[in-house]
Amino acid sequence: MALALEPLNDAFVAEARGIDLSRPIDAATAAAVEAAMDRHAVLVFRGQPLDEDQQLAFTRWFGPLDLGLKKVFRAPNRLRHEESIDISNVGLDGKVLARDSKKMFSNLANQLWHSDSSFQLPPAKYSLLSAQVVPPHGGDTEFADMRAAYDALPDDMKRRIDGLVSEHWALHSRILLGDADYTEEEKAIIPPVEWPLVRRHPGSGRRSLFIGVHARRILGMSLPEGRMLLLDLLEHATQPAFVYRHRWRVGDLVMWDNRCVLHRGRHFDPAVRRELRRSTTEDVAWAQGNAA
Ligand SMILES: [Fe+2]
Repeated sequence: MALALEPLNDAFVAEARGIDLSRPIDAATAAAVEAAMDRHAVLVFRGQPLDEDQQLAFTRWFGPLDLGLKKVFRAPNRLRHEESIDISNVGLDGKVLARDSKKMFSNLANQLWHSDSSFQLPPAKYSLLSAQVVPPHGGDTEFADMRAAYDALPDDMKRRIDGLVSEHWALHSRILLGDADYTEEEKAIIPPVEWPLVRRHPGSGRRSLFIGVHARRILGMSLPEGRMLLLDLLEHATQPAFVYRHRWRVGDLVMWDNRCVLHRGRHFDPAVRRELRRSTTEDVAWAQGNAA
């Protein structure tokens, strides 16, 4: 069967059907998925309960696999593959973690609007999140369309931010939440990176805001002025008009484009089990300077 798409909202999210992700796909199918991602930016595949190998095999079609913050948090992995990122509240013993465990802090940081791995070079291109166990209440994931958000900015704001560059840092979101107990060595593992506030999304040709909680300052501005501007932009960009909220079902696989979408998890009872598994690709084209 061929890929079939049904828009879930006006702009940037579609349900994708017609492909069995548990089986190997071919280059033509991968190209069709990539074209759909350029058109929409978030694809929802329902009823695809993938194991780790199946998820990673599908993800690899879209670029080298990213490890992100795993380079800093060298904790033992509950999952079999290093490239599988454990978005769960479960420990190595299979039990739900204590609410003051370090991994729980990561889960909380995931509830701030961000673009995966925007703090590193290369940043992330696509992330894929597979739902294994979902809580009965809460724990949704929201996505915000940064192309539509840019288009809707007033002209004077577009002029104001044109050419500005922000600095993203891996631990900024953690420190913002008060999880600041890092050694100098850990802080230095992923050095800060600089990104234009406005980038052109290569697949669609549209301009897009590149912001989120990893952005900690704007070059050439005082910290307060830069942070206030980042907060203003984030508030604008995450208005309901630009946001899709995904209510997870077991077996969902949701795929999004970090180059033009922000996302955040939503609150759930930390005592209730939630298990999702993420795989992410690197944006090699941007890292090589091919996207402008
Ligand atoms: Fe994330």
